[in-house]
Amino acid sequence: MEFSAVSRVVHDLDMPPQARDAFLHLLDRHGRGREPFPAWESIRSPDTQKLLPYQKLEQPGDEAGRRALSHLAVCKLNGGLGTSMGCSGPKSLIAVKEGRTFLDLIVQQLQEVQQTWGVPVPLWLMNSFYTEEATAAVLPSYPSSQRIDFFTQNRFPRLHKSTGLPLDEAVSGVEAWYPPGHGDLYACLSERGILDRLLTEGRKLLFVSNADNLGATVDVAIAHHMLQHDIPFLMEMTAKTPTDVKGGTLYEDAEGRLHLLEIAQVPPQHVDAFCGTEKFNVFNTNNVWIHLEHLKRRLDAGPLDLTPIVNEKSVDGQPVIQLETAVGAALEHFEHAVGLVVERDRFLPVKTTSDLMMVQSDLFIEEGARLRRNPARRQPQLPVIDWQGPLERFEEYGKRIPQSPSLVHLESLEVRGNVWFRGMATLKGKVRLISRDKPLAVPGGVVLDNQTLEN
Ligand code: UTP
Repeated sequence: MEFSAVSRVVHDLDMPPQARDAFLHLLDRHGRGREPFPAWESIRSPDTQKLLPYQKLEQPGDEAGRRALSHLAVCKLNGGLGTSMGCSGPKSLIAVKEGRTFLDLIVQQLQEVQQTWGVPVPLWLMNSFYTEEATAAVLPSYPSSQRIDFFTQNRFPRLHKSTGLPLDEAVSGVEAWYPPGHGDLYACLSERGILDRLLTEGRKLLFVSNADNLGATVDVAIAHHMLQHDIPFLMEMTAKTPTDVKGGTLYEDAEGRLHLLEIAQVPPQHVDAFCGTEKFNVFNTNNVWIHLEHLKRRLDAGPLDLTPIVNEKSVDGQPVIQLETAVGAALEHFEHAVGLVVERDRFLPVKTTSDLMMVQSDLFIEEGARLRRNPARRQPQLPVIDWQGPLERFEEYGKRIPQSPSLVHLESLEVRGNVWFRGMATLKGKVRLISRDKPLAVPGGVVLDNQTLEN
């Protein structure tokens, strides 16, 4: 379908003009196709000037630290629904530690920064039409000393895969719409006047991360480094392990400019090299630090031309596409953008119910409101958890594992069939729980050490 024909239909949709412009810009960008991929040999992992190890950063003293924090605001990406876990509400409102939710812990982390440094750091939440109501409802419960602001990101129309035309809201209802990925942040900051407001308040830096990543805490040394070196954009990267070989990485082009490289862009013959650790040994944590003055200058010159991600879905049995963008894709639009290699504990994503069980368990201890690997664990890597079926869905997981077992000495866990935990269990080594014809109940207080329970 011609862009002009789709654009005519889009003009009749119930969308604020700025959201419509942002959508049409993305649609046009999609229509122009991908930039040709550079020769594989010409791209390389950035050198340590552009991909700096965290240990090289200067730890600021009290005054410099307070100064850096006074220019900082934090933004948590809170628009996704956690569809991989079958969540129906915001993931950030799930209880993680002793009944406290991701959002409770985020607020507590910021309160601790304020107590330690004496500087309040405002929190912004980017919600979506899916998450705004439930999130707004809990905000009054937080201490008034923590400033929390929020906005609702754009909603864009899903398109029929066959015709490229938007779904009819009268037929598909709310399913006709979607939140277009976290790359929407830039358009929202600029359209809603938030960027200007932050700058007027003297904020120069925005630290952005996923609401489910409790490792993404405010780091004074990074804030200080950004300001000292006038860095426009910084992406936190961390060393690849066998489970995250598919994560996006950074490359430096022949002109020395950094780009984010996603697996979808890589020609098939180079996918193995992309996933290996020889050429690229770090991947994107989605913790990004943006210098707001640079962002303002860049956006004054026009919207960021972020590479669209085409997400294929099915609505009422019909194939649809939704065009999305990622926050990290902005990196290549800033000339002096850099990567920073941080420790793994700054990246604790919760994508699946097994990730959730690990974060809830004694694999992680709290240091203030920050989660850290439990030093009692001897293996450097997290356990491998393999379950299929009901436990993959958040609601069933909550019913079947009401209390996370002790996992600190677990190597691997395999669960098959109808398995229920009846209290606090301890799992060590390699554990298998296999239910064939009748439900398998794991009693409270049991210690399973390199054991298989089956019926
Ligand atoms: P992801 O897209 O990785 O997904 O979002 P998710 O929502 O965590 O989980 P799945 O894939 O649906 O299961 C990373 C972060 O970006 C936010 C999410 O809330 C999450 O914190 N996000 C995602 C938005 O704020 N807006 C979006 O449109 C998409």
